[in-house]
Amino acid sequence: MAIKWSDRYSSRTSQVGASAIREIFKLTQVPGIISFAGGLPASEMFPVREVQEAATRVLKDMGSQALQYSTTEGHLPLRAFIADRISRHGIKADENNILITSGSQQAIDLISRVFIDPGERVVVERPTFSAALQTFSSYQAVCMGVDTDEDGAVVSQLEEVIDGSTKFVYIQPNFQNPGGTTLTLERRRELVATSERHGLPIVEDDPYYEFRFSGADLPLLLELDAQERPGGRHGDGLGEVNIIRLGTFSKTLAPGLRLGWIVAPRDVIGPLVIAKQAADLHTSILNQMLAYEVIKDGFLGPHVQRLRAIYRERRDVMLSAMDRHLPGGVHWAVPEGGFFLWVTLPECLDASVLLQEAVKQGVAFVPGVTFFPEDGRQPRSNTMRLSFSFCTPSVIEEGILRLGRALSRQLEG
Ligand SMILES: Cc1ncc(COP(=O)(O)O)c(C=O)c1O
Repeated sequence: MAIKWSDRYSSRTSQVGASAIREIFKLTQVPGIISFAGGLPASEMFPVREVQEAATRVLKDMGSQALQYSTTEGHLPLRAFIADRISRHGIKADENNILITSGSQQAIDLISRVFIDPGERVVVERPTFSAALQTFSSYQAVCMGVDTDEDGAVVSQLEEVIDGSTKFVYIQPNFQNPGGTTLTLERRRELVATSERHGLPIVEDDPYYEFRFSGADLPLLLELDAQERPGGRHGDGLGEVNIIRLGTFSKTLAPGLRLGWIVAPRDVIGPLVIAKQAADLHTSILNQMLAYEVIKDGFLGPHVQRLRAIYRERRDVMLSAMDRHLPGGVHWAVPEGGFFLWVTLPECLDASVLLQEAVKQGVAFVPGVTFFPEDGRQPRSNTMRLSFSFCTPSVIEEGILRLGRALSRQLEG
């Protein structure tokens, strides 16, 4: 008897749809399409030569370690490197507070696995990172949204959506994917105070932290929370915090390395390590050693500066092209950093319908509906995300010209 596989899927699997972004990626495979859809880093900036040279050294000097099974927690020198960078924020973390993950996407998965029982709540921003929503729903969480505005998440709405089953708040404080928003200092303080009042864990996902183009750096949520604790900066530090912080090398080095990390109190790292053992034993030790070899002598600082300049230029080129080529009634906010521009179309337009016309004109983006939780409220269908990180300035110019054409056609229709 032939098996009908779909009848055998778990209820978890049946609930999770294909990622809309992956589906749009298929569209962008059509030759000649300019894609502002994926949040891909600029590939010409990948440290190919540095990784190549590191590979030669690592394999020559430590080949048998690099190709052997390794510890679940991760390569100790790499964890110490990350702990040291976190300590610069006045946070007393050591390598025992760091777990290396296979990208921060795996961090989101492991945290969900450890904390969420079916039917429990996770609070997210509206809009938020779609792959996080996908992960939370694969663990059968109920995702409740709080709105975002130009100051980031509207933290005052938190108390309306949390209940006894709320496991954590998932938030991106800097240059959020997809909205480009940054949480103001005042709201950061309010969030940490709300977390303190309710004993509510916060997952601080911060992949774009390094890519600030203007304005001053704001304190990490982890930093603010650590300061609030008895003993503060110089006391027990991380032992007591309510924040789990996620980082990644995907944007600062290369996503193909699949290297991310979690910074958390040891009580959190313990079960995460066990969950990770079940998931993949450990993250590729070869990749961890390669990354450490590349960054250990100060590569990251100047490299990130170069990347920041490139991404700032691309943001500015896209903004200027939008000013010139997009029709009236289309609005956007200027992000202070990151990879994304969030665009609001006139109410009469649906970005999913516009996408069909845009693809005909040779340009792609992600419709905003993808980024809204299913929390019983209407997603904003007249929104879209444009990523400026991947395309060169001349391609961005041409892509926005095409988008303007698609928009004009839709408005005429
Ligand atoms: C907000 C956010 N979190 C997590 C990730 C996952 O990144 P990675 O798994 O490559 O570290 C991304 C990737 O785009 C992201 O935008």
